[in-house]
Amino acid sequence: SATREAVRAAIEACRELPGALLPILHGVQDALGYVPPAAVPVIAETLNLSRAEVHGVVSFYHHFRSVAPGRHVLRLCRAEACQAMGARELEAHLRARLGIGFNETTANGALTLEPVYCLGNCACAPSAMLDDRVHGRLSVERIDRLVDACGD
Ligand code: FES
Repeated sequence: SATREAVRAAIEACRELPGALLPILHGVQDALGYVPPAAVPVIAETLNLSRAEVHGVVSFYHHFRSVAPGRHVLRLCRAEACQAMGARELEAHLRARLGIGFNETTANGALTLEPVYCLGNCACAPSAMLDDRVHGRLSVERIDRLVDACGD
């Protein structure tokens, strides 16, 4: 399957590196958008780790997902500088508008909402990242326009 191929490719690209686990997990997520649970035993066996160890790393890092995301991913910054500049209001607005919380996807599959802890854009807080792009100085109106563009 395509999933198996992607996992195999990520393993082959990184297995000789010291600390190969993280680069492999990044490779899998870059290719598939998430780390499928079925990848965990394969990666564990390759690296001589237990499944629990691999699963522990996947769940420790907010960056890794275990379920497939929607067509777009909006990561709202929840770290201090953004909170001080109104990120909580944005969060409340998004929850109300989208009817979902963090790490959930809208019913039509258009958008997944995720928390992130600093995007390195504190000077332009509050910030969020839509797919691969960081947006700063967000207001409710501006974040609405980003969400509109996702077709939700
Ligand atoms: Fe939000 Fe740094 S705290 S970008």
